[in-house]
Amino acid sequence: MSRFFVTTPIFYVNAKPHLGHAFTTILADAMTRFHRLMGDEAFFLTGTDEHGDKIAKASDEAGQSPKEYADQISGLFRALGPMLGAKPDHFIRTTDPEHIKTVQKVLQKVYEAGDIYFGEYGGHYCFGCERFYTEKELVDGMCPDHKTRPEYIAEKNYFFRMSKYQAWLIEHINQNPDFIRPARYRNEVLSLLESGALEDLCISRPKSRLTWGIELPFDQDFVCYVWFDALLNYVSALNYPRGEKFKKFWPANHIVAKDILKPHAVFWPTMLKAAGLAPYQSLNVHGYWLVRDTKMSKSLGNVVEPKQMVDAYGTSAFRYFLLREMAFGSDASFTEEALVGRLNADLANDLGNLFNRVLSMTHKYFEGKVPSPTAETEEDAELKRLGRDAMRNFQGHFAEFRTARALESLWELVRALNKYIDTSAPWTLFKNKDKARLGTVMYMLLEHMRKIAVHLWPVMPEASVKMLEQLGCCFDLDKVNLAKEPEVWGLLDSGLAVLQTSNLFPRVEVPEPAPPAALEVETPKAPAAEPKKKAPPKAPEGPVGPADSIEFADFQKLDLRVGTVLSAAKHPDADKLLVVQVALGDPEPRQIVAGLADRFSPEDLVGKQVVVVANLAPRKLRGIQSQGMILVAKDAEVTRLLTAAGTVDDGGKVA
Ligand code: MSP
Repeated sequence: MSRFFVTTPIFYVNAKPHLGHAFTTILADAMTRFHRLMGDEAFFLTGTDEHGDKIAKASDEAGQSPKEYADQISGLFRALGPMLGAKPDHFIRTTDPEHIKTVQKVLQKVYEAGDIYFGEYGGHYCFGCERFYTEKELVDGMCPDHKTRPEYIAEKNYFFRMSKYQAWLIEHINQNPDFIRPARYRNEVLSLLESGALEDLCISRPKSRLTWGIELPFDQDFVCYVWFDALLNYVSALNYPRGEKFKKFWPANHIVAKDILKPHAVFWPTMLKAAGLAPYQSLNVHGYWLVRDTKMSKSLGNVVEPKQMVDAYGTSAFRYFLLREMAFGSDASFTEEALVGRLNADLANDLGNLFNRVLSMTHKYFEGKVPSPTAETEEDAELKRLGRDAMRNFQGHFAEFRTARALESLWELVRALNKYIDTSAPWTLFKNKDKARLGTVMYMLLEHMRKIAVHLWPVMPEASVKMLEQLGCCFDLDKVNLAKEPEVWGLLDSGLAVLQTSNLFPRVEVPEPAPPAALEVETPKAPAAEPKKKAPPKAPEGPVGPADSIEFADFQKLDLRVGTVLSAAKHPDADKLLVVQVALGDPEPRQIVAGLADRFSPEDLVGKQVVVVANLAPRKLRGIQSQGMILVAKDAEVTRLLTAAGTVDDGGKVA
């Protein structure tokens, strides 16, 4: 039996889980399920990264101890899996005593082997990245990722002789084409390694500067650099060195996004080599989820919360969209309109209709029982060939993390089945009393639908089980052999009772796009500004309010905040617009383009406290980016700024 060990990065506990974390978790879960279906023994690891500057700072700001703070946020990440229908086999925390012991053991081992030494170093330190940058790596003197100026720090520290393993790493990558994939990231790493001498890695922080970390076993005045600590989670979780799990499951298949390519592609394999461990099996690098082509960030207020999407559309649909939409290795853009578009096209129209039509015909023509097939025609043979290819392609792509292409392949079969219904016209066969042919046609459809449902288990476990139940089958992982599915025929027993309708994938309303901010300001219907409206139609339970009432939860989605106007100026290209900078308690002021110029001069606004919708999706108004909306109150004659009755700290919530 083959083994498959898959990991997500362990997530920092300085912010709540968002769409990006959800995606990596879903991908890892889907890969685990896929391998289990293929008959492999699989182990899925995720967890949280809890030491270092970032967490120490965040806990400080929250007025909590780092451990209290980490406990709280780590809990949110632990709950993320179940919320997404994902089932990790282990959730590791870098504050787990077993992990700490393992890190110290590895440090001692590498130190004794002579690959850790004490030296002096001066460098540009970015607190966001928790790493030193060389001059060459900075862009205009700024951290390329955080766009902030790093601090120059010179201090004595411990160093890992990473440079010693440069030649070995280049050779290993060259000899193992799947070590880093897709190829663009492999090439990126190779060109980085080949562009010059690799530097040694600073792996300690003096306690005078940071205490929240794992103490070096050979010097109590230092803690371990957070990346050296965090990467080791992948083996400490398997109880390295003696654990059965380690013997069974190492080497790993790691999943990361492109943001942490270098630590995984350079630090980690050289650390493994120095510690005498086998390199990991593969590093699978996916792109970034953007929101309307903009990077997600707290200060832009465009962070997509996975829970909101799951509540609105369900886990199966959300998982399907993410795995279908992101081409492996490339960035993808998340919008609720795109999500709804896919659900309606692929799930409601293609798959949902197929199930609804075939189940209802089975009831009409065969009293709801799977009929027995008879002789097959050339058209049937052609359909089977197409199905075989679609399933083989699905499996080939999926095994290499290309879930979007895998699903695209499977949908060729879904669409072919819908077409087959039209060309074979079961209603005519029924009218002509051709029961033998009708039985074959219906069996062709039902058996292929079973195959599709099984293939979809990694992507949409819940919906897959329901689809199988609708076909009278019950899902049993031990009995499925996915690898054989393209080749075998006839596993659906004739005589099984199928459901009459499916209704698994109802059509979803397209959420209304937000009207332009300038107009919203003129007609301040605050709830209508909320772009995420609703999901599948649900039958109302109990008494209902006025036709356009909203739930409290809908109101809570609005992030209304008080802020002070720092500056305001006329928009260069629009008479009615003002470009306003508002202090909202974030490090940077918020720029809002507001349609207020015909009632307020810039001077009227500066210094005033206003109420802002802070989580409105960003958009450009006449070429200038606007990230929010200023609220006003108005009647037939006057328009007044909405403000608090007394002074409130900038960023104060309106609740
Ligand atoms: N703690 C480190 C990882 C240590 S692993 C030994 C870390 N944590 S993180 O919380 O910042 O998580 C980064 C990872 O979250 C990315 O590599 C990716 O898996 C996921 N994502 C975060 N934002 C993302 C997007 N916008 N899009 C897709 N995934 C991204 O780095």
